[in-house]
Amino acid sequence: MPLSQERFDLVIAANRLPVDRVREGGRSVWRRSPGGLVTAMESVMSGRDGAWIGWSGVPGKAPAAFEQGGMRLHPVALSAEEVRDYYEGFSNGSLWPLSHDDIVPPTFKRRWQAAYETVNRRFAEAAAKLAAEKATVWVHDYQLQQMPQFLRELRPDLRIGWFNHIPFPPVELFMQLPARDAMLRGLLAADFLGFQRRTDAQNFLRACRQLLVDDDISVRADVVHTADGHECRAAAVPISIDTRGMAELAATAKVRERAAEIREQLGNPKHLLLGVDRLDYTKGIRHRLKALEEMYREGSLDPTETKFIQVATPSRERLEAYQHIKRDVEQTVGRINGEHSSFGAPPVTYLHRSFPRDEMAAMFVAADVMLVTPLRDGMNLVAKEYVAAHDETGALVLSEFTGAANELKQSYLCNPHDIARTKRTIVRAIEASPEERARRMRAMHRQVLRHDVQRWAERFLTDLAVAPRQP
Ligand code: ADP
Ligand code: F6P
Repeated sequence: MPLSQERFDLVIAANRLPVDRVREGGRSVWRRSPGGLVTAMESVMSGRDGAWIGWSGVPGKAPAAFEQGGMRLHPVALSAEEVRDYYEGFSNGSLWPLSHDDIVPPTFKRRWQAAYETVNRRFAEAAAKLAAEKATVWVHDYQLQQMPQFLRELRPDLRIGWFNHIPFPPVELFMQLPARDAMLRGLLAADFLGFQRRTDAQNFLRACRQLLVDDDISVRADVVHTADGHECRAAAVPISIDTRGMAELAATAKVRERAAEIREQLGNPKHLLLGVDRLDYTKGIRHRLKALEEMYREGSLDPTETKFIQVATPSRERLEAYQHIKRDVEQTVGRINGEHSSFGAPPVTYLHRSFPRDEMAAMFVAADVMLVTPLRDGMNLVAKEYVAAHDETGALVLSEFTGAANELKQSYLCNPHDIARTKRTIVRAIEASPEERARRMRAMHRQVLRHDVQRWAERFLTDLAVAPRQP
């Protein structure tokens, strides 16, 4: 196929660009997109010469390509029907719940699957035009699982990698998906597939072995050999954050002063707890609030001494499951504050909006205990950000159902479904001695400093370059 004038040795494809087109004061402006994928890839790509293909966040015609942070951003158009069927439907109504233990029941519709395929083809065509001869194309996340196959058909010369930011479900759940074979075949056209945990890579390999029985494939160790002679390796490459960047930001006078100001505005509580999540049913916000509500009621937390900030970033707001969780969370916060506030001093501060990085850093610095309690999460970068930002006096309560729990073993691990034990874990974290907190935080500091996002990207790109061999 004809190549465009402008070609790149590294092309990133993700559902979203790092910036979203939003209306502000009657004007259209670009604003940072939500979520961990953008947090991670923004720092990986800054200073690299590459292109990023993604949706602008609004339906209709795609804006023209533009430069940002030394990167070429190429918007891909999605019609209103495609936003409904590919993004809200197949991606977030079928794949997302299926990949998160069916916390809400997934819905399957043939129309959604057709739109998913069309959009994946469009992304592949855009990448095929932008990639230089033998370039590397790095595809991201569950929204683009068929793209590797469509891209391989157009450009057999490319090195194609895919990274899954979310869990890959066990085969017993994955096999519910009517389009399961198409997803696996789509991915197998890549040279290397990266997953958050070993379990995710194993789930994928097991799904290939068990479900593609008519495809004449063979799975040897972590490599799948397909009938056409292609080989695709699948392995764990856990994602991370720009640890030094976050630590430096958190150490600035501006952020430290702001952290002190936040505590003061809350009446200088003895203990400040914090939760930061997209408002998603996977994040366990309901369970967390239930635990805290019981603790305020029973008196194991004193509402005048212990305050809780919950940041809940708006997300996928047109989907019913997200409207439900929003309603539940807001009702519970209202109830807790109704029962336990004194004048001008509610125990829970609920913030339903986006914040600049330095304000997020100030909250991390201000909080004595960070509560990260998802029911299932691919990694959870917020947990790592808290560790990077906070000094040795902090404490992290972390769900066993996050990818981060594999690495941050010195956190206070909890099972968020077990409300009684979660409550005890929160009390342990609050009451831990300074020595115990320091010991745990020091170990976690070492972990996130050693395994930062740059190292993750280098590992992924090296794995991809030498696949199907191991580096
Ligand atoms: P997910 O990708 O599921 O949203 P992660 O925890 O991996 O979850 O990543 C979330 C990212 O979004 C983190 O970098 C976090 O700091 C950022 N973030 C979350 N809420 C907000 C907010 N209200 N304003 C700004 N950034 C936020
Ligand atoms: O990996 C989680 C994820 O789906 C990412 O693709 C994205 O960073 C984030 O959640 C935000 O979701 P959305 O793009 O649907 O707003």
